[in-house]
Amino acid sequence: MGDISAAGPMAGLPLLEDLPDVGGRSVLVRVDFNVPLSERPDGTLQVDDDFRIRAALPTLNWLAERGARITAATHLGRPKGKADPRYDVAPVRERLDELAPGIELAQNLRFDPGEEADDRTFVDRLVDGFDAYVNDAFGSSHRAHASIVGPPARLPSAAGRLLQREVEVLGGLLTHPARPFVAIVGGLKVADKIGVLQSLLDRVDRLLVGGAMAYTFLAAGGRQVGASPVDQAALEHCAALIARAGDRLVLPVDTVALAREGSFGRGEQGSGRLAAYSGDIPAGWEGGDIGPETVRRFLDVITGAATVFWNGPLGVFEDPRFASGSDAVAEALASSNAFSVVGGGDSAAALSRLGLSDKMGFVSTGGGASLELLEKGDLPGLDALRHAPNAPGRI
Ligand code: 3PG
Ligand code: MG
Repeated sequence: MGDISAAGPMAGLPLLEDLPDVGGRSVLVRVDFNVPLSERPDGTLQVDDDFRIRAALPTLNWLAERGARITAATHLGRPKGKADPRYDVAPVRERLDELAPGIELAQNLRFDPGEEADDRTFVDRLVDGFDAYVNDAFGSSHRAHASIVGPPARLPSAAGRLLQREVEVLGGLLTHPARPFVAIVGGLKVADKIGVLQSLLDRVDRLLVGGAMAYTFLAAGGRQVGASPVDQAALEHCAALIARAGDRLVLPVDTVALAREGSFGRGEQGSGRLAAYSGDIPAGWEGGDIGPETVRRFLDVITGAATVFWNGPLGVFEDPRFASGSDAVAEALASSNAFSVVGGGDSAAALSRLGLSDKMGFVSTGGGASLELLEKGDLPGLDALRHAPNAPGRI
């Protein structure tokens, strides 16, 4: 990928205004409508959360107002290159039609193996008959897939309004965050997040780590973590990060744990005994949430922050017994004056369950994409747009 100047990832991106007149023209819009679905009593599927669909409406409306013929295209789930009725876009089409009537939605891009393989002939078929391309799929722009990186080499192209806003906000965290700048990272997969943690550590004033991934850090720091998950392969990276971070890294000091014979609930309380432990977690107990002293320390740091980035829940928040940490952080962000940026489906879901989404500075539609943009400063989808024939600096 190209150099990222001090101007950040917005530099050189063609925007909607950089497209030739779209009136009467056919425009292909790559959206990320990879949304959660649920089953109705009659067995049909429906969209459970339309946040990503609503987020694309400014772009779709902008094009529609100018008389464009719009075809939107998305992936849905991971059907692995084959048509699969479980991942048919029909329920998404139904919701889109309610929100923006008259916009066509193509079938799931990942029904064709050419999408994930970034196959040239698949790109040829994709762009056939279109006059322009818009990428508004921020949540997918870290994937070098055909529909993301292919069309800008063939058609006049632009970043849609959602993609633009995401890159402005997240790029702003890279280039000129108001300080103190605090990042809060949770979730399960520590191995996936080592890169972004390393990069955040160089940029933030404080890095707070919670969620299941914290147990690997605690183990790397010599703590006993009982039956909590530890990623053995990531221990060394975590130890190195702890050594480099000094007091910029804030790890949990206490834990709400579940006795081994118990189970975590999903959307409801699970079973088993709970106990709060400071420091070590005894054998037979599995950590499920940050404890009250950790919550106090996290809130202290948040209270003094000017910018906060939050990705990943701080406990097994689907089980209300382990939601206190995530809830407390969400409420602290909602009442603080800091500019809060939240990324990732789980953190966004925690906010919307609490009715606090509107109280954030910005809720990203991307999980992996927001982390990769913060880690690397660029995404394959943005780089492709900068090389479009109509990109500023090329015309
Ligand atoms: C997401 O939901 O994370 C994006 O739509 C990307 O989907 P993927 O992780 O299956 O590539
Ligand atoms: Mg993902």
